[in-house]
Amino acid sequence: MGNGNITLTINGEEVTAQKGQTILEAARGNGIFIPTLCYHQKISKTGACRICVVKINDRMIKTSCTEPVTEGMKVETEDEEIVEIRKGILELLLAEGDHNCLYCDANGDCELQSLCYRYGIEPSGSDFPKNTREIDYDSSYGLKRNENRCILCGRCVKACAEIQVKNVWSFAGRGSHAHLTSDISEKIGDSSCVACGTCVQMCPTGALSFQQVLGKGQAWELTKSSSICIYCGVGCKIDFYTNREGQLVKALGCDDGPNNGHLCVKGRFGFDFVQSDKRLKKPLIRKNGNLEEASWDEALDLVVSKFSGYKEKNGPDSIMSFSSAKCTNEENYLLQKFMRAVIGTNNVDHCARL
Ligand code: SF4
Ligand code: SF4
Ligand code: SF4
Ligand code: FES
Repeated sequence: MGNGNITLTINGEEVTAQKGQTILEAARGNGIFIPTLCYHQKISKTGACRICVVKINDRMIKTSCTEPVTEGMKVETEDEEIVEIRKGILELLLAEGDHNCLYCDANGDCELQSLCYRYGIEPSGSDFPKNTREIDYDSSYGLKRNENRCILCGRCVKACAEIQVKNVWSFAGRGSHAHLTSDISEKIGDSSCVACGTCVQMCPTGALSFQQVLGKGQAWELTKSSSICIYCGVGCKIDFYTNREGQLVKALGCDDGPNNGHLCVKGRFGFDFVQSDKRLKKPLIRKNGNLEEASWDEALDLVVSKFSGYKEKNGPDSIMSFSSAKCTNEENYLLQKFMRAVIGTNNVDHCARL
């Protein structure tokens, strides 16, 4: 021991951890898997689902996401007893909710589904009263909420409170009546939600999902590509997901960027213009008060003659450019370069400044 390090044994192997770390953090830091559901590294610890239980010193069963490491501690992450406990927890979660993965928005991208597969649990015909809560399909611009798939892990509650600092979600009711509720109204669209989508990104099941992706492709059908958000100077890094038809269907905050995985409503949902059928594909020139389609040569010749005329008559500072957040960074760079080097003015502005 030294430098704040702790030595403990996990599954018979001696490992080191930092003082103050939990068993889960120590295990993950040493490449050892422990399943979790309510835990997420971006929010405070809850210790609610108990799927992460481990055996300590051959006698105590504790939740590894909340239990700190101590010097000389001996941890078993998955013996027969632990597996039985985890199976029981998963069986209860499945029994309570409506988990028909075939029709679920999270199929293939669900932490509950992965754990049920790992531990060999299938939905049973149990008599446990099933959740039959109304599905909120479309009250919100971007979110869909199906509480029948909610496992009450609380990740959305904490994500909204601690990351977006909105406190939209909370729990109401007790026992089998416990359920998720939003502020102001049961309908998420009538609540104070600002549609940042963080709760959806953090939900481990299909209880919360993005409307834009519904019916357009399940997790394994989508291709990921990373880009930078075009809307403001923060420059959030976004993982965009494209379906088989090449449509952009989903945006997730990327953990590598300055946004640390978070997005606001613009980065999250503001990509629909890319495939809008209202986009101009040909230049338009106003003739006799009407906009008419023109060739690129005709349009460029017109712009050159107009700009040259204004510059000659009134000087370069009589011209300014106003560029768009919907263009790429490179396109915006080119426009300011054109204004400075070709026109000869510093009159350059951008809508993201407003
Ligand atoms: S939430 Fe997960 S386990 Fe439940 S139906 Fe959806 S994919 Fe299956
Ligand atoms: S979308 Fe954002 S603001 Fe709305 S409930 Fe989820 S985390 Fe809170
Ligand atoms: S909606 Fe999702 S994140 Fe929120 S409590 Fe239910 S399962 Fe957890
Ligand atoms: S992950 Fe540890 S209690 Fe839920």
